[in-house]
Amino acid sequence: MSRVKLIVGNWKMNGSFAANTTLLSALTAVPAVKIIVAPPFVYLASSYAQLTDSTIELAAQNVASEAQQGAYTGEVSALMLAELGAKYVIVGHSERRQYYGETDALVAQKCLRLQEAGLKPIICVGETLAEREAGQVEMVVSRQLKAVIDSCGIDLLAQAVIAYEPVWAIGTGKTATPNDAQAVHQFLRQLVTIYDKNIAEKLSILYGGSVKADNAASLFAMPDIDGALVGGASLIANDFLAICHAANASYVG
Ligand code: 13P
Repeated sequence: MSRVKLIVGNWKMNGSFAANTTLLSALTAVPAVKIIVAPPFVYLASSYAQLTDSTIELAAQNVASEAQQGAYTGEVSALMLAELGAKYVIVGHSERRQYYGETDALVAQKCLRLQEAGLKPIICVGETLAEREAGQVEMVVSRQLKAVIDSCGIDLLAQAVIAYEPVWAIGTGKTATPNDAQAVHQFLRQLVTIYDKNIAEKLSILYGGSVKADNAASLFAMPDIDGALVGGASLIANDFLAICHAANASYVG
């Protein structure tokens, strides 16, 4: 089945009011492609205001795991993100797993909070270089995904997006080959098929890790690569749009 391509720009800890205004005003809708941008929390409201007349949607980059309100200094809850106009939230990004000690259990708990608030998770999975070299790719990504399914139920994946981001490809300029990425995407879709074939067929599985204008088309040509989670290149309007246009060109309708 053909799935509309989805391109998500993960701005990470980048941006300013001035830079965001310039970047967002240069982004235009691209046919047959759904575009989402994920600014830092503090820029969600202003980005939402700027995107009022646009089909581009908003994601947050993180969410509190414990509750929707309460004594959790420094945290931002799913209900608060929904009020700010976010429709999606990135969870389990490897930078959060690596630098902030986020575990599979914590990622699952965050997904529960998103489910309560009606927000859609973009669930990141991916192996380190050591895990790849040890032949553990499938074991790692299935463990990461099953933790979420076990806590939230398979129906969550009817609302969710999965992003396969091999840790060794993030910000390094190294991309998984289209065939290597396809193999993991196919494995993930087959894993979901065991639970629910219909959900698996509709599920968007994005690739992330040094996606650029010049490698996007070959990735999008793969049958189970439904778009991209883009870091660095999402901060440059022309580069991000070129990736969106590559997605449009790969759409077979
Ligand atoms: P880069 O595109 O900068 O490698 O980042 C990928 C990523 O982590 C997106 O979430």
